[in-house]
Amino acid sequence: MRALVLDGFGDEDAFSLREVPMPVAGPGEVRIRVHAIGINPLETKIRRGWMAEVMPITFPAVIGSELAGVVDSVGDGVAGFEVGDRVAGFAATGSYAEYALSRVDAVALVPANLSLEDAVTIPTGAETTRRAIAPLRIAAGETVVVNGAAGGVGSMAVQLLVADGVTVIGTAGEANHEYLRSLGAVPVAYGDGVVERIRAAAPQGVDAVFDVAGQGFIPAAIELVGGPDRIITISDFTAPGLGVAVAAGDPTRLTADGFADALDLAAQGVLSTPIAATFAFAALPDAHRLSEGGHLRGKIVVQGL
Ligand SMILES: NC(=O)c1ccc[n+]([C@@H]2O[C@H](COP(=O)([O-])OP(=O)(O)OC[C@H]3O[C@@H](n4cnc5c(N)ncnc54)[C@H](OP(=O)(O)O)[C@@H]3O)[C@@H](O)[C@H]2O)c1
Repeated sequence: MRALVLDGFGDEDAFSLREVPMPVAGPGEVRIRVHAIGINPLETKIRRGWMAEVMPITFPAVIGSELAGVVDSVGDGVAGFEVGDRVAGFAATGSYAEYALSRVDAVALVPANLSLEDAVTIPTGAETTRRAIAPLRIAAGETVVVNGAAGGVGSMAVQLLVADGVTVIGTAGEANHEYLRSLGAVPVAYGDGVVERIRAAAPQGVDAVFDVAGQGFIPAAIELVGGPDRIITISDFTAPGLGVAVAAGDPTRLTADGFADALDLAAQGVLSTPIAATFAFAALPDAHRLSEGGHLRGKIVVQGL
């Protein structure tokens, strides 16, 4: 099969498209013909070598996690999935490839009326949001700030919180304010003066903060909430120095529990993540370049080979 292979860390041009051995589904795994790939900023950091200490990789390497496709073989002991099923979720072997293996608990069936391109926008946003905000014990009627509300994770976080009856203040660049309003959030511009702008938008006070984008927002978050306890970040690894917890997912243990129902809600038209841009497989390096630009509305999708 063909895959985009890294032979070492580097810029976007470090990928080479070539033949690699076909993976074989082991016990508890399915092999998936990849039809759509979701690009996550973590993968650009892995490619650059910034994650080498915490997530070591061996070269040549095929990276990528989020995928949607069709099951083409099942390993021993697999129940609930069969050849031909449309699934979405997380790859165990790297999704930047024609075929990838997934643990059966890391994928979920895609409802018939949801395209695989739309399905692939869901798993990371929903799983990350649910896992990260669980310790915050957010209740209906509370006010929560989502910092970095317009991207792949933020878009989903806003929709899940709004659906739970939470008042959401979302930070974004001006170009994304109307979009955030359409999701049910109150938009506020990030940058200097953000604390005052959020206080003006939420005179009732802020109960909790979900920091998606990082970018030095933690001191402002502490000021708004009045302490570090009801703040969680997924991207600022300096936050523990200020008493704020980081929710870091272990890629080898992510499960479909956090997103399977979100696929159903997407199929019902109740939630969606806009596709910021779609790229052909061979143009995946351009998708990384766009991701690193850092100003996305929704999610970048790469088509399978
Ligand atoms: N720990 C975990 O489990 C986990 C899981 C998933 C993702 N992550 C991390 O979470 C981060 C976000 O992921 P993502 O997929 O949502 O990224 P993304 O789709 O690239 O979105 C990034 C968003 O950040 C916003 N932004 C840019 N500069 C900002 C600033 N100074 N202040 C506030 N917002 C700003 C942008 O909004 P505008 O366009 O409006 O500027 C953009 O919508 C990444 O660092 C990723 O690696 C962590």
